[in-house]
Amino acid sequence: MDGPDSVAGLTQTLRDGGYLADRGLATALFVAIRLHRPILLEGEVGVGKTEVAKVLAAVYRRRLIRLQCYEGIDTSQALYEWDYARQMLHIRALSERQVADPDAVDKLFGPRFLLERPLLEAVRAGDDAVLLIDEVDRADDEFEAFLLEVLSDFQISIPEIGTIKADSPPLVILTSNRTRELHDALKRRCLYHWIGYPPAEREVEIVLVREPGVSTALTRKVVAAVHRLRELDLAKPPGVAETIDWVRTLSFLGSDDLTEQVAEDTLGAVVKERDDLDLVRENLAEITSGA
Ligand SMILES: Nc1ncnc2c1ncn2[C@@H]1O[C@H](COP(=O)(O)OP(=O)(O)OP(=O)(O)O)[C@@H](O)[C@H]1O
Ligand SMILES: [Mg+2]
Repeated sequence: MDGPDSVAGLTQTLRDGGYLADRGLATALFVAIRLHRPILLEGEVGVGKTEVAKVLAAVYRRRLIRLQCYEGIDTSQALYEWDYARQMLHIRALSERQVADPDAVDKLFGPRFLLERPLLEAVRAGDDAVLLIDEVDRADDEFEAFLLEVLSDFQISIPEIGTIKADSPPLVILTSNRTRELHDALKRRCLYHWIGYPPAEREVEIVLVREPGVSTALTRKVVAAVHRLRELDLAKPPGVAETIDWVRTLSFLGSDDLTEQVAEDTLGAVVKERDDLDLVRENLAEITSGA
């Protein structure tokens, strides 16, 4: 399996894949990859937490296995389930043919009827995979405790089949928007990196990497406006994703400047809360007052 041999090498490889990582993030990722440690990426909304896992998988030709967390997720959705429908069909077929196989029941709980879910898939794939455990803060406490167990030994026991262990663990990237504090035990197991909003120049660069056709001057104006938006007390401040969307929208409409009128017409690309809209409209002249 290929991997980076330096922080600079990793930074360049990510850039070639369309992702701009600053020094801190690249270093954290480099250590995570080389020391086989899970890494927890926390940060604002839309700052590239999920994207970095996708790009890493792509550039190192690893399989991306994604476990999307949500409220109420449980172990069967994360590990494995028995394919109940196929088991039933199999039983029916056996009884129609009047097969009296003494091992029939055992076979029903064998590999043929096992539905692998992301964690089991990742344990099997080992270091051929990047395991993205996305938005772990949405899952509940018990699920977090269970994750901790899986992450500590990369070993899964299925009573009917036996123990499956990864030869070498996959690269594990956990993300969180910090809607709640994660437990210390989980954090201790992981390297940690906070991704904040990028500085303006860096954000311009990110937009130009993602949308190579757009005007640099327009991008600068949009980024300046977005940075002012982030200073307002918005319920949902815009992330990098919104900056990209706004630039894309403007260039699609053929606007080469961000005037107050143009901004007002296209606000839906960046501001997605009613109350925020009111606040932004009141301050629009200042927000669009140039880079
Ligand atoms: N450093 C970066 N380099 C390249 N693209 C970036 C970068 N940061 C953000 N992006 C862009 O922003 C978009 C949103 O990023 P992503 O979905 O990874 O955000 P996120 O942090 O996971 O957000 P959320 O918290 O909403 O899940 C990506 O599709 C990507 O185009
Ligand atoms: Mg995400």
